Amino acid sequence: MNTAPKVLLVDDEEQVLKANSQWLELSGFSVICCNTAHEAINQLQQGFMGVVISDVKMPGMDGLTLLEQAKQLNGNLPIILITGHGDVSMAVEALQKGAYDFIEKPFDPDRLKERIQRAHEQLELKIKNQQLRQQLAEQSGISAKLLGESKAIQLVREEILSLANFNTPVLIHGETGCGKELVAQCLHEYSQRANKPFVALNCGAIPEALFESELFGHEAGAFSGAQKQRKGKLEHADGGVVFLDEVESMPSHLQVKLLRALQSGEIERLGSNRIINLDIRVISATKVSLKDAGEFRQDLYYRLNVSEINLSPLRERQTDIPLLFTHFADLAAEQYQRPVKTLAPSDIDLLMAYAWPGNIRELRNIATRYILARDKSIIDLIDADNSKEIEEADRILESVLSLSQKLNQYERQLLHKALEKYQGNISQVMAELDLPRRTLNQKMQKYGLNRLDYLEK
Ligand SMILES: Nc1ncnc2c1ncn2[C@@H]1O[C@H](COP(=O)(O)OP(=O)(O)OP(=O)(O)O)[C@@H](O)[C@H]1O
Ligand SMILES: [Mg+2]
Repeated sequence: MNTAPKVLLVDDEEQVLKANSQWLELSGFSVICCNTAHEAINQLQQGFMGVVISDVKMPGMDGLTLLEQAKQLNGNLPIILITGHGDVSMAVEALQKGAYDFIEKPFDPDRLKERIQRAHEQLELKIKNQQLRQQLAEQSGISAKLLGESKAIQLVREEILSLANFNTPVLIHGETGCGKELVAQCLHEYSQRANKPFVALNCGAIPEALFESELFGHEAGAFSGAQKQRKGKLEHADGGVVFLDEVESMPSHLQVKLLRALQSGEIERLGSNRIINLDIRVISATKVSLKDAGEFRQDLYYRLNVSEINLSPLRERQTDIPLLFTHFADLAAEQYQRPVKTLAPSDIDLLMAYAWPGNIRELRNIATRYILARDKSIIDLIDADNSKEIEEADRILESVLSLSQKLNQYERQLLHKALEKYQGNISQVMAELDLPRRTLNQKMQKYGLNRLDYLEK
């Protein structure tokens, strides 16, 4: 889908202009010709986006002045100047004024072609990264908190805003690290309870013996070890929100007690008969489907799940990956005082192809390490987080291997990831890797990959 790279060719000699432009067109570039620097400026003012190649010596405005003006109009555009042979001082001046490169007359066409290509890649990279940063800068309100432009995340933001001001319980469902707690915080922040407490309780992390008192509090002497009176989380959350994270881990006898408290709006501390009235909104989160979880009381499930927000895993909102990655990498650069880094298009492809089993938390970790580990490439970082098998491949890759062995390793890894992603669905793998069935079969055989190993269990 790549359109031909654009070149703006500036030369006062008609013959030279024509010859060069024909040759560049044949090499796959889309060329606009200008006889004068003024014409070129005009093109730039109209928004030309590509590589500028200009002769230096021209009547009227010369190439160096064009360079200066072009830099002011659009600092991104790479400009290559054609200088006279041996004119070193001119070449130095050109580079100082921000030329991307200079090339001496008479020039080798292939060399020029190579330079244009490289300049063009650099331009694309700059534009892509600027777009990402601009998108980030333009976000405001909830879009600046819960980032992403995918349809899925847009819907979630709408759901949050429409649910925020009801007091009904919300159940958030999603895989690990995909933003459940952040969604809960947004529900709180955009509600009338925003200036009241948001109390989070991780039901998976509290020892069962302490759970009840964590939730409901206790009076002094209620049980051995209860020396002082203590308020429970529910009481702390009065007027605001209690966030029950990993609610699926709640011990079953407490499920009954919580249900009763939610129905009546009343609690009693352990060791006390005094009834405390509470006004709490309950938001809970779960990684599993509570409806099918045998252990979980269905009456409590219906109580918690008056509204439900489903968060899809990151691999199902791939278009958000570059934006999120840039966001977290920039944050890390600021936090650790490191220079910001520019993602290459091939890095973006790798990030988007990866399945992110740990979702946004994993992406955040990798973006941080990307800033901190100067010499690690994206593929190194992604693999480091991956299964043993890929670690092994990595280790082998690092030992002395021939180029073809390395390519084989890489190819096997891509096939493995695609098979995993599509759970052994051959047609989808063919489409993803753009391979005909026969070739795919041959390659799978070559690498000992069997689709049956990838079927959904
Ligand atoms: N859409 C998003 N935009 C920006 N940051 C996000 C987004 N989604 C998640 N994050 C960030 O990713 C990290 C993980 O999110 P969070 O803790 O909310 O996930 P979780 O689903 O609660 O994870 P777990 O299941 O492990 O409890 C947090 O740092 C959070 O701020
Ligand atoms: Mg969480």
